[in-house]
Amino acid sequence: MAKSRVQFICQACGHVSTRWSGKCDACGEWNTLVEEGTAGGIGAGPASLRSPRKGRAVVLTSLSGEIEDAPRIVSGIGELDRATGGGFVRGSALLVGGDPGIGKSTLLMQAAAALARNGHRIVYVSGEEAVAQVRLRAQRLGAADSPVELAAETNVEDILATISDGKRPDLVILDSIQTLWTDLADSAPGTVTQVRASAQAIIRYAKSTGAAVVLVGHVTKEGQIAGPRVVEHMVDGVLYFEGEGGHHYRILRTVKNRFGPTDEIGVFEMSDKGLREVANPSELFLGERHGAAPGAAVFAGMEGTRPVLVEIQALVAPSPLGTPRRAVVGWDSSRLSMILAVLEAHCGVRFSTNDVYLNVAGGYRISEPAADLAVAAALVSSLTGLALPADCVYFGEISLSGAVRPVAHAQQRLKEAKKLGFVRAISPVAGSRDEEPAQASGVAEFQPTTLADLVAR
Ligand code: TYD
Ligand code: MG
Repeated sequence: MAKSRVQFICQACGHVSTRWSGKCDACGEWNTLVEEGTAGGIGAGPASLRSPRKGRAVVLTSLSGEIEDAPRIVSGIGELDRATGGGFVRGSALLVGGDPGIGKSTLLMQAAAALARNGHRIVYVSGEEAVAQVRLRAQRLGAADSPVELAAETNVEDILATISDGKRPDLVILDSIQTLWTDLADSAPGTVTQVRASAQAIIRYAKSTGAAVVLVGHVTKEGQIAGPRVVEHMVDGVLYFEGEGGHHYRILRTVKNRFGPTDEIGVFEMSDKGLREVANPSELFLGERHGAAPGAAVFAGMEGTRPVLVEIQALVAPSPLGTPRRAVVGWDSSRLSMILAVLEAHCGVRFSTNDVYLNVAGGYRISEPAADLAVAAALVSSLTGLALPADCVYFGEISLSGAVRPVAHAQQRLKEAKKLGFVRAISPVAGSRDEEPAQASGVAEFQPTTLADLVAR
């Protein structure tokens, strides 16, 4: 049997190192390496105890007709079902990650209550709160009358024994993965070894029984306990629950999904009675707009299959510093540098003596390059002090040569803009394949081919 030796495991990413250091070589996080023994880890033990068992390989084509689409449990909470790609998949494991206090337990309790009311057997295992506390929360959510089964357990073997009692559960929620521990590993709960070994046992249970399992994972900053990233590769789906302090809305973002699309989001608003669905996020993000002001441009963006309109705000101010400041919230800062460089090189607009601040309204985060044009418009507007028309939306990618490039889903973006009362759009020339002619949208479009065209205007 292999000798147990000391190793150091990064609690943020799971990287294993033979010596301690202040910074993890793999993910660059500081103070996340923690000493954990290897004995009793996953797969430990003499291999000779178990004799090999012959499996069976099947030909893919022989399976046709035998297997339907992944069987799902639909929660009825539209925004949650959208993020999971149509409901929880039976026999699969889903990880719901997020900062502590963001509302993971609240969301899952609401989903559990809704499902249990519809006759599903739902078990909610809380390792963090006592049953009475969970019940109090359920009461606040108006869900205390729902037949959800509650358990306060942290040992994986005990949990599996508890839920195997009686009818097979349709959905098991484990809150949270960091509190679980299994007899198979001898590290403390919350360490990478324990979190992985526990998750593995739970996932094996899901696959063998066909129950859907949801693991809750806290995102941790200090590395004292293992983060949800260490189990991301083991589960079938990963959702992250995000939100800005000071804002009431929360975004459930699909990061990984073996049974559906990964770029979906679900939008919720936290109220005193739990999370409320926000069916039209654009109205929420544009809700605080007060007419036209210099430096503000509305970007017609897409999140998965859904258009989302959001305001981009820029402030360009004379800088007292030798090296002017560039600060970005909600967008990629290297992308901002690129847009500034393109504006300087191809459009003759100077930012070199100015501080540049860029903010996406409402604490929203944009990852699409299609926002380039809206950012450029906001920057030029702030620099010149001229407000952009309040009834106009912007989208389009900008290349280093200064050309405006087409982006996907132009029609959907325009339709959403029209629905919200915008009548003009600055967008790329509809380049490609499947797009219908632009006029169909009813929004008047100006289609610059280069950024200089737009700036000249
Ligand atoms: P919670 O679901 O416990 O967060 P997590 O499980 O992600 O750690 O949410 C806790 C926060 O949500 C807490 O700050 C209080 C707030 N909250 C409400 O505003 N309204 C509610 O109805 C509930 C249940 C919680
Ligand atoms: Mg919680």
